[in-house]
Amino acid sequence: MSPFEQVRMNIPPKIPLKLVSLANLTVEEKATSFSRLDEEAIKSLFPKTYGNSAITFVEGESQGNTPKRVGVCFSGGQAPGGHNVIISLYRGLKQLNQNSILYGFIGGPNGFLKQEYIELNADRLALYLNQGGFDLIGSGRTKIETPAQFELAATCAKALALDGLVIIGGDDSNTNAALLAEYFLSIGLSTSVVGVPKTIDGDLRNDQIEIPFGFDTACKVYANLIGNIQRDALSAKKYYHFIKLMGRTASHIALECALKTHPNYTLIGEDVFSKKRSLKDIVEILAAVVEVRSNLGIDYGVILLPEGVLEFTSDYSTLLKELNGVLEKATSIHDTQPQEKIEFVISQLPTQSKLYTSLPQKIQLQLLLDRDSHGNLNVSKIETEALLIELVSIELENRRAEGGYKGQFNPQPHFFGYEGRSSTPSNFDANYCYALGLVAALLINFRLTGYIATISNLRAQPALWQPGALPLTSMLTMETRKGKLKPVIRKALVDLEGAAFLKFAAMRAMLAVEDDYLYPEPMQFFGPEEITDTCPLTL
Ligand code: FBP
Repeated sequence: MSPFEQVRMNIPPKIPLKLVSLANLTVEEKATSFSRLDEEAIKSLFPKTYGNSAITFVEGESQGNTPKRVGVCFSGGQAPGGHNVIISLYRGLKQLNQNSILYGFIGGPNGFLKQEYIELNADRLALYLNQGGFDLIGSGRTKIETPAQFELAATCAKALALDGLVIIGGDDSNTNAALLAEYFLSIGLSTSVVGVPKTIDGDLRNDQIEIPFGFDTACKVYANLIGNIQRDALSAKKYYHFIKLMGRTASHIALECALKTHPNYTLIGEDVFSKKRSLKDIVEILAAVVEVRSNLGIDYGVILLPEGVLEFTSDYSTLLKELNGVLEKATSIHDTQPQEKIEFVISQLPTQSKLYTSLPQKIQLQLLLDRDSHGNLNVSKIETEALLIELVSIELENRRAEGGYKGQFNPQPHFFGYEGRSSTPSNFDANYCYALGLVAALLINFRLTGYIATISNLRAQPALWQPGALPLTSMLTMETRKGKLKPVIRKALVDLEGAAFLKFAAMRAMLAVEDDYLYPEPMQFFGPEEITDTCPLTL
């Protein structure tokens, strides 16, 4: 263990006043939370868990805190702070009853289905306090959807006599939690299923979930790296840095990083969509920024791209849908040679074969890679930054030929993703995760099922944070996935009327021509709270 890890594991997280003594709490119901979209469909798919109320915890006599047997798993991509959720879940359960037991399922939901687990204990867990990653038990992206999988889930819950299962995950993983909660009740199994909101993408949020955990840390890591690149750009004055940022669909990470660092241009997918921009439009916008700056004598700059941005364009998004259709039908395509594969796909695309043909071969092949078990495109594997560099270079040469552009375009591609999502958690995420784990322990103790833990009032100091929980069914809507209509938690996209986007939009034209770069510090853990304990700007 590095000296830093050792010091860090000995720092106790700050606990909301309401969660200091779990044994003195009871549940209070808030207004009933019905699903607003697709209400009838959700109601009929979730007859046992639909219509529950959101809850909060208030002082009162707790209900017989009997020993609980609980399982926990991480689900989906890593997000800083996850270990703290498990540690406080363990400590919360023990606080309520010393004889409670916590099992950690190995490798995500699949570990649960396959009954691969370890029993967690205080000594082992203590090593992971305030540390990054999910390596204590690992994670996975298994979608629980087939009857056989549901039966395996029930078999495991029965074999371990589980009172509760906690799933720490994003939108897809919490959809799993909602489905399992309903299924267990439908077969008379009393195992409570509880979700915890995780994802660096920042897209699992609503009135009650102010932000999922991990977003704050990832953005702080990326913003520091972007600031470093900006300083290098300003010093060398010779490169255009195209930085792709993680965030599979929504552009929350790019927006937060833009507000933190003031790069010259930031694409926001939701904005691209609302303006019905095509891939060509985007290329022209970026080329225009480069040309205008060049006319001012500036041949360097920094451009941020959310990894999912092209899914928001009018033409490329249609291409992706058509590709999904082709890939679903032609499952054996992965066994064929690259060129053969490409030619087959071109012959099958209903309307977008021209666009697909115009892409570099490397990108054509990346677009054919397997989708994950939830049907998502693996955008982290598609070199959007390289694609845009190539297309902008061509556009600039066309402009040069017409006598417009006269500068030097030396691009550098970057991708900031994995380095942010397993980082040591920020103080904000460390405290937030610890509080979420305590709420999960309370939910299991009260035998509540089909809920996701929430902590609100996050802009205040941790002592004033408010614990609660929201029925998962209130977040569900129907969406087509892999060609079938399914209940899902819809990803929350950037609100173009929201204060964060409006602030960014007001600066956009200025930032394209003036260098107003900000250089955020490497994440700080010790020192004045105004530096160490900040929360995301977009909050
Ligand atoms: P979650 O939604 O599961 O939190 O994962 C998000 C994410 O980190 C995205 O930002 C990224 O596109 C994706 O996971 C990468 O997936 P993988 O871990 O499979 O490479």
